[in-house]
Amino acid sequence: MSAPKKLFIKTYGCQMNVYDSERMAEALGGEGYVETKSADDADMILLNTCHIREKAAEKVYSELGRFKGLKAEKPDLKIGVAGCVAQAEGEEIMRRQPLVDLVVGPQSYHRLPEMEAKAREGEKVLDTDFPEEDKFEKLKSRPKAKRGPTAFLTVQEGCDKFCAFCVVPYTRGAEVSRPADRILREAQELVERGVREITLLGQNVNAYHGAGANGDLTLAQLIWELDKIDGLERIRFTTSHPNDMQDDLIEAHGTCAKLMPYLHLPVQAGSDKILKRMNRSHTAESYIRLIERIRAARPDILISGDFIVGFPEETEEDFQATMDLVEEVKYGTAYSFKYSTRPGTPAAERAQVDPAAADDRLQRLQALLGRQQREVQESMVGREVSVLFEKTGRLPGQMVGKSDYLHAVHVADCPREIGELAKVRIVSSGPNSLAGELLR
Ligand code: SAH
Ligand code: SF4
Ligand code: F3S
Repeated sequence: MSAPKKLFIKTYGCQMNVYDSERMAEALGGEGYVETKSADDADMILLNTCHIREKAAEKVYSELGRFKGLKAEKPDLKIGVAGCVAQAEGEEIMRRQPLVDLVVGPQSYHRLPEMEAKAREGEKVLDTDFPEEDKFEKLKSRPKAKRGPTAFLTVQEGCDKFCAFCVVPYTRGAEVSRPADRILREAQELVERGVREITLLGQNVNAYHGAGANGDLTLAQLIWELDKIDGLERIRFTTSHPNDMQDDLIEAHGTCAKLMPYLHLPVQAGSDKILKRMNRSHTAESYIRLIERIRAARPDILISGDFIVGFPEETEEDFQATMDLVEEVKYGTAYSFKYSTRPGTPAAERAQVDPAAADDRLQRLQALLGRQQREVQESMVGREVSVLFEKTGRLPGQMVGKSDYLHAVHVADCPREIGELAKVRIVSSGPNSLAGELLR
């Protein structure tokens, strides 16, 4: 038998890309590839890319440029680009960077084995179709190796919302939900491989409406099915849209013990004028009322969000409305970005905000969000939380895991294994994590 070929995958962007990279590694595993952590000894390099902001997309080209020397030394090395930049800029990538052998869009990963074979024969291959068949069904897994205690599981992909700034509807295509039985089977397999916590993924995960035995299931109904799996201890989901937050999902946050008290619910802005121009179809007020209803169901839930500042036509007054909304909601954590013009999206054509003003707003927003994050972390001190241990710490005897609220928690003097859940009392709060002691 010949030595296995080595595959190096570098993943950018969102959790869905992390999930997809695992699937691609499995698909190429069937072709005799094993993963390597270094590009230097790879026979194939795959960049799984993100197109969401200009910087993310440009990074791909500089990264590709760095493989020039490697490719000169190793003519058999194959270089591929996958993900959302592949989808958006397919042929342009081949033109701009001749060392690329293969370009594959997110809906064509099941075709990767044939594409790899063609690339091996010296062909340049590109596939950015939106085929009808279910790629996940076609992507057969490898033998069931043991794995870490947390996993992502894509249940819904694509988006029909067309927010005026966003490339996702173009790069991931129309919204599609996977049938429930396949998701449940995959979850069961993950649990058999050691997984205790599953994060359900979708660009609009709460719009999930996958086929079940008796008609379509809502996300809440799917969660209740997952709840029945023995050995699965924790369920999370991301990312949700405020308009798809249905009553049964809100209720599940109060009644399903395995559903963790953490909700990522992007609002993007606090000015109704800007929200309308963003095509968000919710108002600041309707968002705040929604948060109130969610907190009524689960008072301790940690709310996380996404924000864009400097969206075209945003005035200082509009920005103040975002700050006011943040003050009112009080976020446990948040991601905030300066608006980045994306060619082909409606907002790209509009009057852009002065970049210096946008930078200044981003700084002020991040200062406020950072303060809220610290306050929420500090409010955890003295509380008992459950921690799922994911790795050993840097100090001897130390373990690191995540709390129900998704805070990283360091526990000293902790005779527990990776994959174990334990009750921990939080004793202090640091910049990006908490410290706790094991309750015996
Ligand atoms: N599917 C997720 C979001 C995907 S993008 C959702 O609907 O929430 C993640 C975040 O990137 C978005 O919530 C938004 O805040 C930000 N984003 C998207 N397009 C952007 C752009 N053109 N400029 C800056 N930030 C952007
Ligand atoms: Fe993009 Fe809006 Fe769809 Fe989220 S809901 S993926 S921000 S278009
Ligand atoms: Fe980026 Fe595509 Fe995800 S653009 S954020 S990798 S869906």
